[in-house]
Amino acid sequence: MNQEQVRQAVFDVLPCKVNVFAAASELVAALADALETHLHQRLTLQTPKPLGLATGRTMEPVYQQLLARLLDWPAADLQKLQNGWLSFNLDEYVGLAVNDPRTFHSYMRRHFGDRLGLSQDRLRVPDGHGQDPQAAARRYGDQLNQAGGLGLQLLGLGSNGHVGFNEPPCGLDSVSRVVSLTQATRQQNAAGFDGNPAHVPAQAITVGLREILAADQIHLVVTGASKAEILEAWLRSPCTAELPASWLRSHANLHLWVDEAAIAGFYKNAMN
Ligand code: GLP
Repeated sequence: MNQEQVRQAVFDVLPCKVNVFAAASELVAALADALETHLHQRLTLQTPKPLGLATGRTMEPVYQQLLARLLDWPAADLQKLQNGWLSFNLDEYVGLAVNDPRTFHSYMRRHFGDRLGLSQDRLRVPDGHGQDPQAAARRYGDQLNQAGGLGLQLLGLGSNGHVGFNEPPCGLDSVSRVVSLTQATRQQNAAGFDGNPAHVPAQAITVGLREILAADQIHLVVTGASKAEILEAWLRSPCTAELPASWLRSHANLHLWVDEAAIAGFYKNAMN
Protein backbone atom coordinates (compact mmCIF):
# COMPACT_ATOMS: atom_id res chain seq x y z
CA MET A 1 0.00 0.00 0.00
CA ASN A 2 1.41 3.39 -0.95
CA GLN A 3 1.11 5.35 2.27
CA GLU A 4 1.31 8.76 0.61
CA GLN A 5 -1.67 7.86 -1.60
CA VAL A 6 -3.61 6.61 1.41
CA ARG A 7 -2.77 9.79 3.30
CA GLN A 8 -3.98 11.90 0.38
CA ALA A 9 -7.22 9.89 0.03
CA VAL A 10 -7.97 10.43 3.72
CA PHE A 11 -7.01 14.09 3.57
CA ASP A 12 -9.40 14.60 0.63
CA VAL A 13 -12.38 13.68 2.82
CA LEU A 14 -11.04 15.02 6.12
CA PRO A 15 -8.32 17.66 6.02
CA CYS A 16 -6.44 16.88 9.24
CA LYS A 17 -2.94 15.67 10.07
CA VAL A 18 -2.98 12.11 8.76
CA ASN A 19 -0.36 9.58 9.89
CA VAL A 20 -0.48 6.18 8.15
CA PHE A 21 1.70 3.21 9.13
CA ALA A 22 2.18 -0.27 7.67
CA ALA A 23 1.85 -1.87 11.10
CA ALA A 24 0.51 -0.91 14.51
CA SER A 25 3.99 -1.36 16.01
CA GLU A 26 5.36 1.40 13.73
CA LEU A 27 2.46 3.65 14.64
CA VAL A 28 3.07 3.10 18.34
CA ALA A 29 6.78 3.98 17.98
CA ALA A 30 6.00 7.20 16.08
CA LEU A 31 3.21 8.20 18.45
CA ALA A 32 5.46 7.58 21.46
CA ASP A 33 8.05 9.86 19.77
CA ALA A 34 5.44 12.60 19.36
CA LEU A 35 4.21 12.25 22.94
CA GLU A 36 7.74 12.25 24.30
CA THR A 37 8.50 15.46 22.38
CA HIS A 38 5.31 17.04 23.70
CA LEU A 39 6.18 16.09 27.27
CA HIS A 40 9.69 17.51 26.85
CA GLN A 41 8.23 20.81 25.63
CA ARG A 42 5.69 20.76 28.44
CA LEU A 43 8.55 20.83 30.96
CA THR A 44 9.49 24.30 29.76
CA LEU A 45 6.02 25.84 30.26
CA GLN A 46 5.07 27.89 33.30
CA THR A 47 1.48 26.68 33.44
CA PRO A 48 1.15 23.60 31.23
CA LYS A 49 -2.34 22.31 30.57
CA PRO A 50 -3.28 18.82 31.71
CA LEU A 51 -3.10 15.86 29.35
CA GLY A 52 -6.25 13.97 28.36
CA LEU A 53 -5.69 10.21 28.49
CA ALA A 54 -7.64 7.22 27.21
CA THR A 55 -7.79 3.54 28.11
CA GLY A 56 -8.56 0.50 25.94
CA ARG A 57 -6.51 -2.09 24.10
CA THR A 58 -5.33 0.41 21.49
CA MET A 59 -3.51 2.43 24.13
CA GLU A 60 -1.75 -0.41 25.98
CA PRO A 61 1.31 -0.59 23.67
CA VAL A 62 1.38 3.22 23.50
CA TYR A 63 1.75 3.48 27.28
CA GLN A 64 4.29 0.66 27.27
CA GLN A 65 6.50 2.43 24.70
CA LEU A 66 6.10 5.85 26.23
CA LEU A 67 6.93 4.53 29.68
CA ALA A 68 10.13 2.87 28.41
CA ARG A 69 11.26 6.18 26.95
CA LEU A 70 10.35 8.32 29.93
CA LEU A 71 12.09 5.99 32.38
CA ASP A 72 15.21 6.50 30.27
CA TRP A 73 15.21 10.28 30.77
CA PRO A 74 17.95 11.86 32.87
CA ALA A 75 16.91 11.76 36.55
CA ALA A 76 16.44 15.54 36.82
CA ASP A 77 14.08 15.68 33.81
CA LEU A 78 12.17 12.65 35.00
CA GLN A 79 11.67 14.22 38.39
CA LYS A 80 10.48 17.44 36.79
CA LEU A 81 8.05 15.44 34.68
CA GLN A 82 6.70 13.61 37.73
CA ASN A 83 6.40 16.80 39.79
CA GLY A 84 4.56 18.65 37.04
CA TRP A 85 2.36 15.79 35.82
CA LEU A 86 -1.38 16.32 35.61
CA SER A 87 -3.67 14.21 33.46
CA PHE A 88 -7.39 13.57 33.29
CA ASN A 89 -8.60 10.25 31.96
CA LEU A 90 -11.68 10.23 29.82
CA ASP A 91 -13.90 7.79 31.61
CA GLU A 92 -14.60 5.23 34.30
CA TYR A 93 -17.17 2.53 35.00
CA VAL A 94 -19.78 3.22 37.67
CA GLY A 95 -20.21 0.76 40.53
CA LEU A 96 -16.91 -1.12 40.68
CA ALA A 97 -14.69 -0.92 43.76
CA VAL A 98 -11.82 1.49 43.12
CA ASN A 99 -9.15 -1.22 43.26
CA ASP A 100 -11.11 -3.67 41.14
CA PRO A 101 -8.62 -4.64 38.40
CA ARG A 102 -11.31 -3.95 35.77
CA THR A 103 -11.63 -0.24 36.55
CA PHE A 104 -9.89 2.28 34.31
CA HIS A 105 -8.28 3.57 37.49
CA SER A 106 -6.55 0.17 37.90
CA TYR A 107 -5.72 0.07 34.18
CA MET A 108 -3.91 3.42 34.42
CA ARG A 109 -2.04 2.43 37.59
CA ARG A 110 -0.99 -0.89 36.01
CA HIS A 111 -0.05 0.34 32.54
CA PHE A 112 1.44 3.69 33.43
CA GLY A 113 1.13 5.42 36.78
CA ASP A 114 2.72 2.94 39.18
CA ARG A 115 5.91 2.54 37.17
CA LEU A 116 6.20 6.25 36.51
CA GLY A 117 5.67 7.02 40.20
CA LEU A 118 2.59 9.21 39.69
CA SER A 119 0.22 9.79 42.59
CA GLN A 120 -3.54 9.38 42.12
CA ASP A 121 -3.90 13.11 42.37
CA ARG A 122 -1.68 13.63 39.32
CA LEU A 123 -3.11 10.80 37.22
CA ARG A 124 -6.81 11.52 37.59
CA VAL A 125 -9.61 9.18 36.67
CA PRO A 126 -13.30 9.88 37.36
CA ASP A 127 -14.57 8.47 40.65
CA GLY A 128 -17.09 5.81 39.68
CA HIS A 129 -17.30 4.00 43.02
CA GLY A 130 -18.83 6.66 45.31
CA GLN A 131 -22.42 7.11 46.48
CA ASP A 132 -23.20 9.90 44.05
CA PRO A 133 -21.64 9.37 40.62
CA GLN A 134 -23.54 12.35 39.11
CA ALA A 135 -21.93 14.68 41.63
CA ALA A 136 -18.55 12.99 41.07
CA ALA A 137 -18.89 13.58 37.31
CA ARG A 138 -19.74 17.25 37.82
CA ARG A 139 -16.82 17.63 40.20
CA TYR A 140 -14.49 16.04 37.67
CA GLY A 141 -15.62 18.46 34.95
CA ASP A 142 -15.13 21.38 37.34
CA GLN A 143 -11.63 20.21 38.26
CA LEU A 144 -10.76 19.88 34.59
CA ASN A 145 -11.94 23.41 33.87
CA GLN A 146 -10.16 24.82 36.91
CA ALA A 147 -6.96 23.17 35.70
CA GLY A 148 -7.25 25.17 32.47
CA GLY A 149 -8.88 22.60 30.18
CA LEU A 150 -7.07 19.95 28.17
CA GLY A 151 -3.82 20.44 26.28
CA LEU A 152 -3.13 17.25 24.35
CA GLN A 153 -5.99 14.74 24.20
CA LEU A 154 -5.33 11.09 23.31
CA LEU A 155 -8.38 9.27 21.96
CA GLY A 156 -9.36 5.77 20.89
CA LEU A 157 -12.43 5.03 18.78
CA GLY A 158 -15.25 2.77 19.98
CA SER A 159 -16.73 0.34 17.46
CA ASN A 160 -20.03 2.25 17.64
CA GLY A 161 -18.32 5.61 17.12
CA HIS A 162 -18.08 6.63 20.75
CA VAL A 163 -15.16 8.61 22.13
CA GLY A 164 -14.63 8.32 25.85
CA PHE A 165 -18.00 6.86 26.75
CA ASN A 166 -19.98 9.43 24.76
CA GLU A 167 -22.44 6.97 23.35
CA PRO A 168 -24.68 7.70 20.36
CA PRO A 169 -26.74 9.82 20.15
CA CYS A 170 -24.52 12.53 21.62
CA GLY A 171 -24.34 16.23 20.81
CA LEU A 172 -21.27 18.43 20.92
CA ASP A 173 -22.54 20.30 23.98
CA SER A 174 -22.23 17.30 26.28
CA VAL A 175 -20.09 17.74 29.41
CA SER A 176 -18.76 15.40 32.13
CA ARG A 177 -21.67 13.25 33.30
CA VAL A 178 -23.01 9.76 33.99
CA VAL A 179 -24.06 7.83 30.88
CA SER A 180 -25.74 4.49 30.20
CA LEU A 181 -23.59 2.18 28.12
CA THR A 182 -25.09 0.78 24.94
CA GLN A 183 -25.35 -2.92 24.29
CA ALA A 184 -22.71 -2.55 21.54
CA THR A 185 -20.22 -1.05 24.01
CA ARG A 186 -20.89 -3.66 26.67
CA GLN A 187 -20.30 -6.26 23.98
CA GLN A 188 -17.08 -4.55 22.87
CA ASN A 189 -15.73 -4.43 26.41
CA ALA A 190 -16.98 -7.86 27.54
CA ALA A 191 -13.52 -9.44 27.26
CA GLY A 192 -12.54 -7.89 30.59
CA PHE A 193 -15.73 -9.23 32.23
CA ASP A 194 -15.59 -13.01 31.69
CA GLY A 195 -16.66 -12.44 28.08
CA ASN A 196 -20.16 -11.66 29.32
CA PRO A 197 -21.65 -8.28 28.23
CA ALA A 198 -24.18 -8.51 31.09
CA HIS A 199 -21.27 -8.32 33.56
CA VAL A 200 -20.03 -5.03 32.07
CA PRO A 201 -21.30 -2.16 34.26
CA ALA A 202 -24.43 -0.52 32.84
CA GLN A 203 -23.22 3.00 33.53
CA ALA A 204 -20.05 5.04 33.34
CA ILE A 205 -18.76 8.54 33.93
CA THR A 206 -17.35 10.23 30.85
CA VAL A 207 -15.80 13.56 29.98
CA GLY A 208 -18.12 15.24 27.46
CA LEU A 209 -17.54 16.25 23.86
CA ARG A 210 -17.52 19.92 24.75
CA GLU A 211 -14.50 19.38 27.03
CA ILE A 212 -12.78 17.09 24.51
CA LEU A 213 -13.32 19.53 21.64
CA ALA A 214 -11.86 22.35 23.75
CA ALA A 215 -8.48 20.52 23.87
CA ASP A 216 -5.59 22.27 22.11
CA GLN A 217 -4.78 19.18 20.07
CA ILE A 218 -6.52 15.86 19.59
CA HIS A 219 -4.80 12.59 18.60
CA LEU A 220 -7.25 9.91 17.47
CA VAL A 221 -5.64 6.48 17.28
CA VAL A 222 -7.29 3.69 15.30
CA THR A 223 -5.59 0.33 14.71
CA GLY A 224 -6.54 -3.15 13.51
CA ALA A 225 -9.02 -4.66 11.08
CA SER A 226 -11.75 -4.72 13.73
CA LYS A 227 -11.92 -0.91 13.50
CA ALA A 228 -11.96 -0.75 9.66
CA GLU A 229 -15.74 -0.45 9.38
CA ILE A 230 -16.20 2.31 11.97
CA LEU A 231 -13.13 4.19 10.72
CA GLU A 232 -14.58 4.27 7.20
CA ALA A 233 -18.00 5.34 8.54
CA TRP A 234 -16.28 8.07 10.57
CA LEU A 235 -14.31 9.36 7.60
CA ARG A 236 -17.42 9.53 5.44
CA SER A 237 -19.80 10.88 8.07
CA PRO A 238 -20.91 14.48 8.45
CA CYS A 239 -20.98 15.84 12.03
CA THR A 240 -23.91 14.05 13.63
CA ALA A 241 -25.06 12.96 17.10
CA GLU A 242 -25.49 9.45 15.72
CA LEU A 243 -21.72 9.12 15.45
CA PRO A 244 -20.26 11.02 18.42
CA ALA A 245 -16.67 10.89 17.11
CA SER A 246 -17.83 12.74 13.99
CA TRP A 247 -17.78 16.02 15.97
CA LEU A 248 -13.99 15.74 16.02
CA ARG A 249 -14.05 16.72 12.34
CA SER A 250 -14.69 20.29 13.41
CA HIS A 251 -11.50 20.47 15.50
CA ALA A 252 -8.76 22.71 14.09
CA ASN A 253 -5.85 20.60 15.36
CA LEU A 254 -6.85 17.00 14.79
CA HIS A 255 -4.21 14.30 14.24
CA LEU A 256 -5.32 10.93 12.93
CA TRP A 257 -3.08 7.90 13.54
CA VAL A 258 -4.03 4.76 11.62
CA ASP A 259 -2.42 1.51 10.55
CA GLU A 260 -3.05 -0.14 7.20
CA ALA A 261 -5.31 -2.82 8.68
CA ALA A 262 -7.72 -0.14 9.92
CA ILE A 263 -7.62 2.10 6.82
CA ALA A 264 -7.50 -0.57 4.06
CA GLY A 265 -11.29 -0.77 3.62
CA PHE A 266 -11.72 2.97 3.28
CA TYR A 267 -8.83 3.23 0.83
CA LYS A 268 -10.06 0.37 -1.34
CA ASN A 269 -13.52 1.89 -1.62
CA ALA A 270 -12.14 5.38 -2.18
CA MET A 271 -10.11 4.10 -5.14
CA ASN A 272 -13.11 2.36 -6.77
C1 GLP B 1 -13.65 2.08 25.26
C2 GLP B 1 -13.29 3.34 26.09
C3 GLP B 1 -12.61 4.35 25.25
C4 GLP B 1 -11.67 3.62 24.31
C5 GLP B 1 -12.49 2.92 23.25
C6 GLP B 1 -11.70 1.99 22.34
O1 GLP B 1 -14.90 1.61 25.53
N1 GLP B 1 -14.40 3.95 26.74
O2 GLP B 1 -11.93 5.25 26.09
O3 GLP B 1 -10.82 4.54 23.68
O4 GLP B 1 -13.60 2.27 23.85
O5 GLP B 1 -11.27 0.84 23.03
P1 GLP B 1 -10.24 -0.18 22.42
O6 GLP B 1 -8.96 0.54 22.25
O7 GLP B 1 -10.14 -1.29 23.43
O8 GLP B 1 -10.78 -0.62 21.12
